[in-house]
Amino acid sequence: MVKKNVQAVLNGLGIAVFVLDKNRTVLFANSMGRKLFGKGLTGSSFDAALPDDKFQFVFDKVLRGQESAAADILLPTTVPTLYRVSVTRFDDESNSEPFRAAVSFEDISHVRDAQLMRSDFVANVSHELRSPLTAVYGLIGTLQGSAKDDPEAQQRFLEMMETEAKRMMRLVDDLLSLSKVQASERQQPEDQLDILPLLESVVNTLGPVIAKEEKRVKVTSTQLRTHVIGDAEELRQVFQNLIENAVKYSPRGTEVEVYTCSQKAEPGYLCICVADQGDGIDPADIPRLTERFYRIDKGRSRAKGGTGLGLAIVKHILIRHRGKLKIESKPGNGSTFSVFLPRVGRA
Ligand SMILES: Nc1ncnc2c1ncn2[C@@H]1O[C@H](COP(=O)(O)OP(=O)(O)OP(=O)(O)O)[C@@H](O)[C@H]1O
Ligand SMILES: [Mg+2]
Repeated sequence: MVKKNVQAVLNGLGIAVFVLDKNRTVLFANSMGRKLFGKGLTGSSFDAALPDDKFQFVFDKVLRGQESAAADILLPTTVPTLYRVSVTRFDDESNSEPFRAAVSFEDISHVRDAQLMRSDFVANVSHELRSPLTAVYGLIGTLQGSAKDDPEAQQRFLEMMETEAKRMMRLVDDLLSLSKVQASERQQPEDQLDILPLLESVVNTLGPVIAKEEKRVKVTSTQLRTHVIGDAEELRQVFQNLIENAVKYSPRGTEVEVYTCSQKAEPGYLCICVADQGDGIDPADIPRLTERFYRIDKGRSRAKGGTGLGLAIVKHILIRHRGKLKIESKPGNGSTFSVFLPRVGRA
C-alpha cells in the first residue's frame, strides 16, 4: 500500500492521483482523486470510474513494460473538462505482485481553449484579409480584360482598388496595434496627463469624419481636475475609436456627447462617457462587442471601413491602464460607453 507520509504528500497535490495494481484495482486515491470520481473507489476497479478505451490503451502499454504513457481524455463533468491522464509504473517490492501504476489527471482545458482561440483568430484574420484581396484580384482581371480600353471604368476600378488596399492596411495596422498592447499589458503606464485637451484634440482629428456623417460632437467637463495616469498615444486610440463609433453608428444630424461623469466614478477613478443618439445595442450583443472581429452588422461596419478590432484594442489598452470599460445601451435609445481611468493622486 501507499505509506502514510507519501499519502499526505499526494493529498496535498492540486491534481488527482490514483495508484492501481495490474488489474486496474484502485489501491489509493488522493483528495483531488476522491473529489473527481467520488469516495469509495478504493478496492474497486478503476474501469467503473473511467470506462475509456484510450485510458485502457495507455495503461496496457505501461503494463507491457513501457515506463510511462499519457492520453488526453475529455471527462463529461458538469463543465466538460479535458485532462492529460498520465500513467507511470513503479514497483512495490514488498508485494508478490509488485506492479503498480500511478495515474494522474492534469486539467489542460485552458491549453485547449488557447489553441482553439488561436486557430479561430488565424481563421478570422485570413478571412478578413482574403475579402479585400479577392476584390483587388477581381478588379485587376477586369482592368486587363473588359475595361482595357475604357479610361473612365479604369479610373473607377482603380479607386475601388485603393479602397480595398486601404482596408487591408488598416487591418494590418490594427492587428499590430492589438498585439503590441497585449504584449505590454502587465506594465501599467506611469505618465500623468490632462485628458480634456486630449479629448478635444481627438475630436479635431475626427473633424472630416464628423462632417461627412453630419454630426456634432460636444466635449464638456464638470470636474476641476481631469488628470489621469496613462499613455497619451494609447488613450488617444481609445477615445478615437469610441467617438468614431458613436459618430458612425448613429443617424445623421444627431449629437455625440463626451463628458466627465462624477456620479459613476469609483473613488480614485475619473469616468469619461461617450454617449450617442443611435439605434442602441441589443443587450445580448453587449458582452461580445470587445471580442476581436465581432460586429453586430458586418455589412454596415465594412461600409464604414471598420475592421471590428477597435473595441478589442480599447479593452486591452484599458486592462493595461488598470481601467475599465462599461457599455450601457437600450435599443432605440442610444449607447453610452464609459471609460474609467486611474486619477492622478489616487489613494
Ligand atoms: N456606439 C455604437 N452604437 C451601436 N453599435 C456600436 C457602437 N459602437 C460599436 N458598435 C458595434 O460594435 C461593433 C464593434 O465595434 P469596433 O469598434 O470593435 O469595430 P468597428 O467599428 O466595426 O471597426 P473598427 O473600430 O476596427 O474600425 C461595431 O461593428 C458595431 O456593430
Ligand atoms: Mg470602431
